[in-house]
Amino acid sequence: MTKSKLIKITVPVLIAIFAGIQFIPVEKTNPPVTGDIDAPPAVSSILKRACYDCHSNETKWPWYSKIAPVSLLIANDVNEGREYLNFSIWKDLSEEGHQSIKMAILEKISKGEMPLPQYKLAHPEAKLTDYDKKIIKQWIEPEKGVRP
Ligand code: HEC
Repeated sequence: MTKSKLIKITVPVLIAIFAGIQFIPVEKTNPPVTGDIDAPPAVSSILKRACYDCHSNETKWPWYSKIAPVSLLIANDVNEGREYLNFSIWKDLSEEGHQSIKMAILEKISKGEMPLPQYKLAHPEAKLTDYDKKIIKQWIEPEKGVRP
């Protein structure tokens, strides 16, 4: 088969696949906010900037979240993220629940694992600075006296 023949077959097949996957249903919801976290304003603004798109019911779904396969990847991150940690239902959790999530937050941000790398590519403003990290550390472990 010549190269041009191959292209003539491959391109329409790829276009058909791309069109076809647009029909895969994607669950993109923003359920009601029932118990938003009551954190100090400095902390809250960092969480909103860097975490809320995946860890709250106030996700800002970007235009490219309408196009498969990106839509499927984004919806998956959001749905999984909310399962682990959802700031919109924070007040519904117990004090122990809060404590263990706060420890997990501390670990994730110290290791630089959150926000997820693919999210930082599309949202450079979500990257946490050292100052942001100090503010969160001071909130979670005030007894350690980290001064931002
Ligand atoms: C692009 C979506 C996305 C963003 C933005 C994001 N996360 Fe996550 N997060 C996830 C997903 C998906 C998981 C579950 C899988 C994993 O642990 O990687 C998760 C897991 C976590 C966990 C683990 C909870 C547990 O119990 O193990 C913590 C803590 C966390 N995220 C904190 C944060 C914080 C803090 C921010 C903001 C600084 C943030 N995340 C931003 C998607 C995101």
